[in-house]
This record gives sequence, C-alpha cells and structure tokens, in this order.
Amino acid sequence: MRIAVVQTRPEFGDVPGNAARAVSMLGTEQADLYVLPELALSGYLFESKDEAVGMAQAPDDDVFEGFRSFASSAGAAVVLGFAERAGESLYNSSLLLSPDGTQSVYRKVQLFWGEKDIFEPGDRPPAVAEGVGARLGMMICFDWIFPEIARTLALAGAQVLCHSANLVLPYCQDAMVTRCIENRVFAATSNRVGTEKRAGRELTYTGMSQIVAPDGRVLVRASGDSEDVLVAEIDPGAADDKSVTPRNELFGDRRPDLYRL
Ligand code: ACM
Repeated sequence: MRIAVVQTRPEFGDVPGNAARAVSMLGTEQADLYVLPELALSGYLFESKDEAVGMAQAPDDDVFEGFRSFASSAGAAVVLGFAERAGESLYNSSLLLSPDGTQSVYRKVQLFWGEKDIFEPGDRPPAVAEGVGARLGMMICFDWIFPEIARTLALAGAQVLCHSANLVLPYCQDAMVTRCIENRVFAATSNRVGTEKRAGRELTYTGMSQIVAPDGRVLVRASGDSEDVLVAEIDPGAADDKSVTPRNELFGDRRPDLYRL
C-alpha cells in the first residue's frame, strides 16, 4: 500500500482556490491513501465564529466534488480537514472519502487554544474505518498530545493513523514517533506550511509532514516551508503485530485493572 502526505499552503479564506490547488497536488503522485492538513480548505486563523461559519461546509458540499472524483478515478482514499457545519454547530473535522463513494467524518476532540472560541469539541469517540486495504483512524492536530486518542484508535484496530494538522508547537512530529512505537501503528501526519497574520495574531505552521512506521522509523519527512507530496510504501499488516519482545505484547501487557485506558 502507498500512502501520501500532502503538505499544502492554503490561502486564508479562498475555499474554492485551496480545494482546486489541493486536488491538483493529489495528481502528482500515485498512492492508495492521501492525507491532507487540518482546515485545508479555509485556513486556520479565524477572527470570529461568524467568519468560520461563512467558510464551513457540510460533508456533502459540492466543494468536495474534485476530491470525490479523484478518489473514485484513482481508486484511492482521501482524508482532509475542514470546518464542518452541522445545524447550529461548528466542528473542526476530518472527512475520509473512499473510492466507492462512502465517507466518514471525525470531529476533533481536543481543541487547541483559540479554537475553543470557534468550534465545539467533537461529540463522538474516534472511530476506525475500513478502506483501501487498511484500517484507518482519523485524528486532528492537537489530539497528538493526548495519548488516549491514538490508543483508542489502536485498540479499535487502526493500522494507519491519518493525522491532519496545522502544527505550531515544535514537539509534535517527534512525539508522533512515540505514539507509533507505543501503539505499533503507522501514522501519516500531514501538516501545512506558511504564516497567517490576522486579528493581531500571527501563526507560522511548521510543515515537516511525515509518515512513521510502527517501530518508530520516520519513512519520509517534508521540509518546514514548502508544499510537497511525499509517499511511503507500507505493509499495513505490520501494525497487527504488537509484540515488542518474545514476552511482551503491547496490548496484552496492559494493566487496565490498575489504570483507566
Ligand atoms: C492545532 O491543534 N491546530 C495546533
């Protein structure tokens, strides 16, 4: 199986332009699964909830049509972050589009900093979806600092963590190596690049999108400042072997009688 991380530089507010540019980047590399950044269509640094509502979509919105037809014609799955409008609620979500036209949504559980003024925290447990030869779990950006999210997905059978991000703190890429080792899973962290300066705030996104193996090897890692599409060939079944030594099986050795999760 080939998985790709797509490192983009969205223009704040240009939803159709960002969608078209991202779809054109997908076509530059062949893969079975493409993972794009968090809020890949709108950009990140909203001035207000009203502004975010104006750039939000429902998962069946026409703006996803280019991604859907790419997924169907390439026989690939696509994961991308978007601001999700659901009735009166707004979530920081990821959409998984499968080549057969099915889709699933993950709503970010752990909101970062000013996101708490804009979005509601996810209202469902992280779930695993079958597709393109692997069991996929979605998580979004700051979820990385809560090991419970990756653990919940791994315990539910996820082989590949599809991690869409807009990272600004310097720790995540290295920390995801630990998330992979402690769960024996693959992780595709897709981060954006560029700087946004809005409403007196400035954020620079750290790029360095990466794909990490269950033994912690960094298979590919992008630069910190330019758009890129990087691919790694993986065997998702390697994530089903949870043995660390002949006498240590990661999940069998857990002691939930002494701790929760
Ligand atoms: C983040 O969760 N976007 C840092």
